[in-house]
Amino acid sequence: MALRNTAIEWGSLARALHWLIAVGILGLILVGLQQAGLERGPEKTQLRMLHSSTALVVLGLMTLRIVWRWMNETPLHSAGFAAWQKLTATVVHWGLYVVVFVQLISGVMTVATTGNGLPFFGIFKIPVPIGKDEDAHHFWEEIHEFAWQVVVVLIVVHVVGALYNHFVLKNDVLRRMTSGVKTDG
Ligand code: HEM
Ligand code: HEM
Repeated sequence: MALRNTAIEWGSLARALHWLIAVGILGLILVGLQQAGLERGPEKTQLRMLHSSTALVVLGLMTLRIVWRWMNETPLHSAGFAAWQKLTATVVHWGLYVVVFVQLISGVMTVATTGNGLPFFGIFKIPVPIGKDEDAHHFWEEIHEFAWQVVVVLIVVHVVGALYNHFVLKNDVLRRMTSGVKTDG
């Protein structure tokens, strides 16, 4: 499997980033919700640290993914796709990129506006040139507590679309992001 994308399928780097980030985001939602349900205390603090540190890794991977996307070609939509299918796929994919970035940035800002820097797995703190600001903290926190639900809705539509292509339309859409397209037609 080639590293770079081709006109008909995703390359190995794009596939690896897609699946790593997908697992990362699902994990972030679970850990984010789990810590939200806990009383203040050491366990909540630990889970928050795990959540925000892992999210910084996902932020790095997402940035790499966008740069890589612009550095090589994007597989074309399947030849048999109707206009509405192309439009839905494009809107959902770009919707995911935008809302995931909103979630990432609002998370960073929620932590940054406490004025303590961004902790990374308790190893070091990334300094940010933002002081403590309670109003801004609540603003970003509200966005963070809302936007993940939009992420979940988009993921559900995205996964239903992928499975519909694979099992009903029986085309290569899912394979070109997993095992690769069938070469024997
Ligand atoms: C795609 C990335 C992310 C996802 C899917 C995500 C998801 C979540 C979820 C579901 C919650 C619980 C929200 C609630 O209480 O209703 C949460 C809370 C939180 N997240 Fe994230 N998060 C992401 C990125 C980040 C980042 C980058 C940071 C910081 C570096 C961060 C820091 C926090 C903090 C501090 C809370 C607790 C906020 C509160 O008081 O409710 N998150 N996150
Ligand atoms: C957190 C979960 C996920 C996120 C955020 C996500 C995000 C994305 C994005 C943004 C793209 C567009 C790639 C681009 O144009 O640069 C994409 C493509 C794709 N995703 Fe996901 N995805 C997730 C989970 C899944 C799952 C669980 C499946 C399978 C059931 C899946 C199947 C696919 C397929 C097949 C493509 C390629 C579509 C095509 O080639 O036209 N994704 N994904």
